[in-house]
Amino acid sequence: MKNLNFKDKWVLVTGASSGLGAEMARQLAVQHGANLILLARRKERLESLKTLIEGETNSKVKVFAIDLSIPEQVEKLLQTILSEYDLYAAVLNAGITYLGKHLALPKEQFNQMIQTNIVSVTYMTSQLAAYFERKQSIGGIMIVSSMAAIFPTPFQAAYAGTKGFLLNFASALSQELENRALSITVFLPGGIATEMTAGDGFNELRGYLMPVQQVAKEGLVAFKKRKSTYIPGFLNRLSSKLAFLLRKDFIIKQTGRTYKKSLDRHSEL
Ligand SMILES: NC(=O)c1ccc[n+]([C@@H]2O[C@H](COP(=O)([O-])OP(=O)(O)OC[C@H]3O[C@@H](n4cnc5c(N)ncnc54)[C@H](OP(=O)(O)O)[C@@H]3O)[C@@H](O)[C@H]2O)c1
Repeated sequence: MKNLNFKDKWVLVTGASSGLGAEMARQLAVQHGANLILLARRKERLESLKTLIEGETNSKVKVFAIDLSIPEQVEKLLQTILSEYDLYAAVLNAGITYLGKHLALPKEQFNQMIQTNIVSVTYMTSQLAAYFERKQSIGGIMIVSSMAAIFPTPFQAAYAGTKGFLLNFASALSQELENRALSITVFLPGGIATEMTAGDGFNELRGYLMPVQQVAKEGLVAFKKRKSTYIPGFLNRLSSKLAFLLRKDFIIKQTGRTYKKSLDRHSEL
């Protein structure tokens, strides 16, 4: 399968108002020459990014404010985008977490996470896959999961579950596709320094966080090369390869200890 080439093509990026999504959007325009359709709730952030990108490049940028946890909004906007734009690729990046004891996770916050991380991504992936199957054109979908899909993280239990769902769903679906020019990439970052990890509860984990620019750069290369799964960061890849030397429950236990220490320190502050 030929590599993806984003130059002058429309690429959809969800969760583009901050962190990894904003950085991937910027790099897609600056380094890959893509035109962008950017989605998130904070419209003013999207507008600032649009101004920045249009000032730096010749890329066209469209922004749409949307709450991806509300299915009616997702269905309506995606239908509009697919009927008005000749879409080439999509980066389904938006996601939220909850750091703390799962038993203290309020029901509303849990539902919000399931809607954002699972329901909207599954729906959008299905619609996008159907769109590219119908068009029989070149296309790519990148789903931002997490290393938590492989090594579940205690104190982010529900989050790890949502990311595991995405990995299994996308890996299975990609084998069903008939359009040989369409690929699905599941991106599995470890910790990244973004708004998601900015809170004090992550203090003990800061040393493990990768700079967002590096994660975005590696992710886009993997997407371009149509990797089925990709973990950014040499050490992350190495640890995932060497993990078979250790028992998985040992790794999960150690991760849990680090998170607990971080949360305990935070609650003492
Ligand atoms: N940070 C990490 O350590 C890490 C590690 C592995 C994987 N990831 C994954 O990477 C992705 C990006 O996270 P990040 O670290 O860049 O976090 P971030 O800076 O908090 O960005 C999250 C993005 O998702 C958007 N979003 C959240 N809920 C939304 C909703 N209901 N509707 C529309 N947009 C919504 C946010 O925009 P608005 O708030 O403006 O809506 C924001 O643009 C996530 O899927 C995350 O799970 C992160």
